[in-house]
Amino acid sequence: MTGKPEPPTFGPEFSAAFRDLVLWRRDVRRFEARPLPDGLVERLVALACHAPSVGNSQPWRFVHVEDPSRRAAVRASFQRANREALDGYDGEARALYAQLKLEGLDLAPVQLAVFADEVTERGAGLGRQTMPETLRYSVVGAIHTLWLAARAEGVGVGWVSILEPDVVTAALDVPDSWTFIAYLCLGWPVEEHLDPELERAGWQARADSAGFVLRR
Ligand SMILES: Cc1cc2nc3c(=O)[nH]c(=O)nc-3n(C[C@H](O)[C@H](O)[C@H](O)COP(=O)(O)O)c2cc1C
Repeated sequence: MTGKPEPPTFGPEFSAAFRDLVLWRRDVRRFEARPLPDGLVERLVALACHAPSVGNSQPWRFVHVEDPSRRAAVRASFQRANREALDGYDGEARALYAQLKLEGLDLAPVQLAVFADEVTERGAGLGRQTMPETLRYSVVGAIHTLWLAARAEGVGVGWVSILEPDVVTAALDVPDSWTFIAYLCLGWPVEEHLDPELERAGWQARADSAGFVLRR
């Protein structure tokens, strides 16, 4: 018998829990050193692959960065890029920037580089003729799905973008046709917060959504 699956009813309890999930998702930079259980990351990536994608192209490519020398190359890239970023600020902002912790590359047990395959044949180009960048948007959607799925399992994710994309791409030896989108640190967070670390550090507070919406 091949029955059609019944769509689930999520209900108010789930909606409230989902709201908590969104509100308690954080960018995490402070990780415990203990490893994640076997199979957990694979489960998160598998869920992320259910994200929407232009033309159903699924252009995301996840690279597990395990090799210590490749990890060291990524950290060195962060250090160079962060030094250069610091030089772009003066005065109080510079002093504050210098104190921020902007990566968890030292301890995160799992590190995933995420790329967009710009030449994938999947989807046969549907939806991206006038906006080829939608391939990259699709990858970002998958990253956000992974981020929420991770938090639902108590796992923290930190997105590191203070990196030199060419250096990271070369260090990971991936096809030239892949565009570097994100470097993600995953692990058990040492602390949980309802507010972003950059807000707590006095860099940038969150604004209310009303200020981001126009009507025409
Ligand atoms: C595209 C992108 C790139 C980011 N790059 C960095 C980064 O290099 N270092 C960092 O500390 N946080 C990075 N973040 C995390 C943001 O700082 C964080 O999302 C923001 O401060 C709000 O905090 P929250 O994620 O805890 O809500 C990045 C987030 C995004 C979406």
